[in-house]
Amino acid sequence: MIVYKSKAEIEKMRESGHVVARTLRLVSESIVPGKTTLLELDALADRLIREAGGIPSFLKYRNYPASTCISLNQVVVHGIPDATVLQEGDIVGLDFGVTLDGWVADGAWTYPVGAVAEPAQRLLNITREALYQGIAKAKIGNRIGDIAAAVQKYVESNGYAVVRDLVGHGVGRTVHEEPSVPNFGKAGKGPLLKEGMTICIEPMVNQGTWKVRTLPDKWTMVTADGKLSAHFEHTVAITREGPDILTLERD
Ligand code: MF3
Ligand code: CO
Repeated sequence: MIVYKSKAEIEKMRESGHVVARTLRLVSESIVPGKTTLLELDALADRLIREAGGIPSFLKYRNYPASTCISLNQVVVHGIPDATVLQEGDIVGLDFGVTLDGWVADGAWTYPVGAVAEPAQRLLNITREALYQGIAKAKIGNRIGDIAAAVQKYVESNGYAVVRDLVGHGVGRTVHEEPSVPNFGKAGKGPLLKEGMTICIEPMVNQGTWKVRTLPDKWTMVTADGKLSAHFEHTVAITREGPDILTLERD
């Protein structure tokens, strides 16, 4: 069942999205080579979310043990923050949800740690742009497949692969609602986009094969070939005015 949101409900989700965006920005300021551990980044995000009156949506969700997912280098998504120290040249994905007054927004961004090699920076640039190519299709009358195909085409035409095992999703009262929002598929297929839908578009893009595997902790997903992966995510509302990105800072 797809849950359509009223304008007032979308404004509530925008408040949550503001906390996501602000927290990402503030935590990213601590992404410094040789200094910060992933646990410290998680603790900082947790504190900033709670100080803003929110709850970290991922903590205890399906027994997930942290407030954020932090995914380094070959980790695709769902890395569990640990005592690893960020090193110059790493790429680090931060992903978390914020529940504010019962409404969830979910966002992710992948950051370079210090100076990164050109191939890593290119992967970040292409993945971020793939997110915006998908968002541009998030319009009334289009279908989920239009988003999926736009992301896939952009990624593959730039020589990368989209992860198949994980997809974007509807979002609202809970982190995951219908519909699924894949990053691969056919234009013109899938659920119709209607006013009031709120979805997370989140391309996960690999340098090498699209294949992934799960580590024995049952959460951490890594690339099957050990090459790099990047992840960018926004929560987006489908409105009469077009795609409305909710995970942005208020001015
Ligand atoms: N990263 C996932 C998403 O964006 C959700 C994480 S599930 C959790 O949809 F359990 F790790 F929190
Ligand atoms: Co998500």
